[in-house]
Amino acid sequence: MKEFSATINGSPVTARDGMTILEVARENGIDIPTLCYSPELTLTGACRICVVEVEGSRTLVGSCHTPIAPGMVIQTHSPRVLDARRVTMELLLASHPEVCIVCDKANMCDLRKIAADLDVGLPRFRLPKHYFPMEDVSPYITRDMSKCIQCWKCVKACSEIAKKNVYGIAYRGFKSKVVVDFDDQPMDKEVCRDCGICIPFCPTGALCKPSPVRQAKTARPLVITGTAQQ
Ligand code: FES
Repeated sequence: MKEFSATINGSPVTARDGMTILEVARENGIDIPTLCYSPELTLTGACRICVVEVEGSRTLVGSCHTPIAPGMVIQTHSPRVLDARRVTMELLLASHPEVCIVCDKANMCDLRKIAADLDVGLPRFRLPKHYFPMEDVSPYITRDMSKCIQCWKCVKACSEIAKKNVYGIAYRGFKSKVVVDFDDQPMDKEVCRDCGICIPFCPTGALCKPSPVRQAKTARPLVITGTAQQ
């Protein structure tokens, strides 16, 4: 495979034909945040958190899907790049429910980790939030679509790795949503038994393993027996 050189953050790097900017950066120990990218899945390029500055390019480019080219001069953490990532993160958080304290992934999800790295706290923007009922009927997966950022990793993990195609994308614009079947029932799929491959791919608390407390509640209703003492 043909090798060539480029420059990232002022240092020369060696790249190979077909590599993306992100791959070369990571190979050289440079951390670029990603939300919709996974090396195990095909590319989506949906979240824009991975943008970098390329000399000569008018706009910032997504590093996860832009091939690196010979002689490219790239900045991964310039003020312009960091500003753009912060705005993207603020927009994501502005439409995200403020329930992290009671989320199964608590403040430990990728979204919150990247927000903390970018020093993003309360978003400046006010956007309508998506509220959907919690889907906790399935004994294998709990879905809370209010927390979904539409990275599509669950859709791809399910179809490309598990080969099950449980999820699909439906609706348009603000109403766009990851759905199961015709989106008319909460998720309850036997096909997900012994799978759950989508859960670790989810960068938020939208997909979680069912909590034992919730499972116990649905499995065994509380029955109080005996008589009160006089
Ligand atoms: S990680 Fe590159 S666009 Fe989402």
